[in-house]
Amino acid sequence: MSFIEKLNKRYAVKKFDDTKKLSAQQLDDLLTAVQLSPSCLGLQQYRILVIEDQATREKLRGAAYNQQQITQASQLIVFAAETNIDDAYGKKYIDRIAETRGIDRANLAQFEQAVLGTINSRNPDDRVIWAQKQAYIALGVLVSAAADMGIDACPMEGFAPEKFDEILGLREKGLTASVIATIGYRAEDDAYSKLVKVRKPKSELFIHI
Ligand SMILES: Cc1cc2nc3c(=O)[nH]c(=O)nc-3n(C[C@H](O)[C@H](O)[C@H](O)COP(=O)(O)O)c2cc1C
Repeated sequence: MSFIEKLNKRYAVKKFDDTKKLSAQQLDDLLTAVQLSPSCLGLQQYRILVIEDQATREKLRGAAYNQQQITQASQLIVFAAETNIDDAYGKKYIDRIAETRGIDRANLAQFEQAVLGTINSRNPDDRVIWAQKQAYIALGVLVSAAADMGIDACPMEGFAPEKFDEILGLREKGLTASVIATIGYRAEDDAYSKLVKVRKPKSELFIHI
């Protein structure tokens, strides 16, 4: 099946088969794809929670308009934006580049200034919005990678972030819930899986200049 065929087959699952779980290998492969998501400057300004615990998911479902995917899916993924992006955060990233690529840190001084300058050009609230945008890119990678791997997913914004933050203790960790996704396998009787996709025609979507 081509990638386009896989994207046509995927849909935002409304009803998961709660007897079907991802294998540990499938979950790890999917998370590897998400780990490889691009992000502004490569900062990966988010953490990603992989939630299997059913009791926690029951609580979260109540904070997500009671959407059944939260408890039915194999896993619930919460993309949480970093709320304390500061100089130390930027410097840690430079340390990681130096270590990973075996580069003398001094040779990264110019890039370090660019990273710190980009961070400091935003006020703290804008840095959170910035981080949330990056989290959405990771969500997009998850949805596309899942489709490629034959795993079903539902990207979800229908939840109360402040309640998720509270239930998951995210504020104390310097995080805030941005967007979530459920992953697993569709239920055979999910009516939505049979619906034809509704998309703008290319003439209304793309502007070629
Ligand atoms: C950011 C985002 C938030 C969404 N939130 C929800 C949600 O809370 N619940 C839900 O069932 N679907 C949600 N969806 C799924 C969309 O409704 C769905 O992707 C869209 O209608 C297109 O349908 P398709 O993905 O099945 O092709 C969300 C999708 C995105 C990208």
